[in-house]
Amino acid sequence: MSTSALHASLAGLDLTAVILAAGQGTRMKSKRAKVLHQLCGRPMIHHVVGAAFDAGVKDVVVVVGFDGDNVSTYLTGAFGDRASTAVQAEQKGTGHAVQCAMPGVKKEADAVLVLCGDTPLLRAPDLVKLCEALAAAPAAPMAMLTCEVDDPTGYGRILRNEEGRVIAIREHRDASDAERAVREINPGVYVVRRAFLAEALGCLKPDNAQAELYFTDTVAAAAARGGAVAVKVSDAGSLAGINDRAQLAAAEDALYARLADDVRRTGVTVRTGARIDAGVTVGADATIESGVVLRGATTIGSGATIDVGCVLTDVTVADNAKLQPYSVATKTRIGERAQVGPFSHLRPESVIEEDAHVGNFVELKKTTMRKGAKANHLAYLGDGDVGEGANIGAGTIFCNYDGFKKHRTEIGAGAFIGSDSQLVAPITIGAGAYVGTGTTVTKDVPAGALAIGRAKQENKEGYADRLRARLKAAK
Ligand code: UD1
Ligand code: MG
Repeated sequence: MSTSALHASLAGLDLTAVILAAGQGTRMKSKRAKVLHQLCGRPMIHHVVGAAFDAGVKDVVVVVGFDGDNVSTYLTGAFGDRASTAVQAEQKGTGHAVQCAMPGVKKEADAVLVLCGDTPLLRAPDLVKLCEALAAAPAAPMAMLTCEVDDPTGYGRILRNEEGRVIAIREHRDASDAERAVREINPGVYVVRRAFLAEALGCLKPDNAQAELYFTDTVAAAAARGGAVAVKVSDAGSLAGINDRAQLAAAEDALYARLADDVRRTGVTVRTGARIDAGVTVGADATIESGVVLRGATTIGSGATIDVGCVLTDVTVADNAKLQPYSVATKTRIGERAQVGPFSHLRPESVIEEDAHVGNFVELKKTTMRKGAKANHLAYLGDGDVGEGANIGAGTIFCNYDGFKKHRTEIGAGAFIGSDSQLVAPITIGAGAYVGTGTTVTKDVPAGALAIGRAKQENKEGYADRLRARLKAAK
């Protein structure tokens, strides 16, 4: 479902999301907050906040505690004012965490979506279904997602009466043996009418095994006051909570598989083993081969081929460009029909214009290859501009660094740089000029001129044979 379709389906409910993320996540064994650990190129918390926005939520309050400054800084960078934070200095339970968030919930909000920051596989359509279920039950003060799992150990159990209505959630530690046998669990995803929420939070008591304020106790209160609506989700995997790095790895694999399938459905061939991060876009009829890693703000044009093992970070690839195997590019633009690789290294601020070629073992840094320019083999081109249709021979080096400063190399359109040339920057080679093979260029070359600088060759007839005879005799 598209974002706008999701948005439309929430029309009528003004929603704020409260996302609980103050816990340390002890089992991650990390100095960083659990929710800042990444999957598919983004911190866990980004996926959850993103799902809330995709579902049509207007604004988000994230409850932070452990490593809270870093979580806040990340959220501001990624979402601006739409995501604010509330500090829960001491973790006194999920109910207390929601209490801490309430001052940040706008008075106009009809209802509050309560989520956990450690469930990154959450799907926006499930949140929409949840909100629709609440909207369809005007007397009920809250609704929640539930699912059945094979091993419910550790989760809160959904308790129902004989009629099948939800009456409470019982935490694992507080549950009787009979209650522990229940396999329908609480994944921690709720939507609650705001007026009821404020009142129910005020009534929470720490009468439980952990002496905490449990948010889950609001369910029994709602059940007694018009009903707690349960929406059962069949894909329990999408509600999985992450507690340790093994679960994080499994969730990341699942999310990569989901993202790859999403891209495939838009008409892209994605081979098994490619990793397309969240936020990457790929045009129709492109091919993404196995072992490819597409990261950050990368966009791939339609009909482009990204062959085996390429790693692209923040790269724009235009339509029908071809990247051959094992090319690595970062913050680079690659034009239409351009060809790169195999084994090219394109470093930041490089531009490969349309129909240009960059071949094997060619490294570029802050260099533009203009339309149709070629550097097919073994070269280092740093801080340069290579004119339209110019040709850079094998072994060419732009000597851009004097130990203190970087200097530029400018090459005019149609120039030809012979193999194994060193261009000592700053230097300008005019349009159509020719640099003879093996030349060390230290002076600008005018347009149309030939620059050649190499020792004169001498041939000594018969010398090799005489030399060999002498060496053999001396052996
Ligand atoms: C909670 C639910 C349980 C549910 C499970 C799903 C309660 C009492 N229990 O249990 O029914 O099955 O989640 O994973 O709600 N947090 C805070 N502040 C706190 C405590 C927790 O922000 O004081 C945050 C955590 O960072 C985490 C989330 O709330 O993101 C859940 O907390 P956690 O301690 O993992 O709760 P569970 O015991 O797993
Ligand atoms: Mg938990």
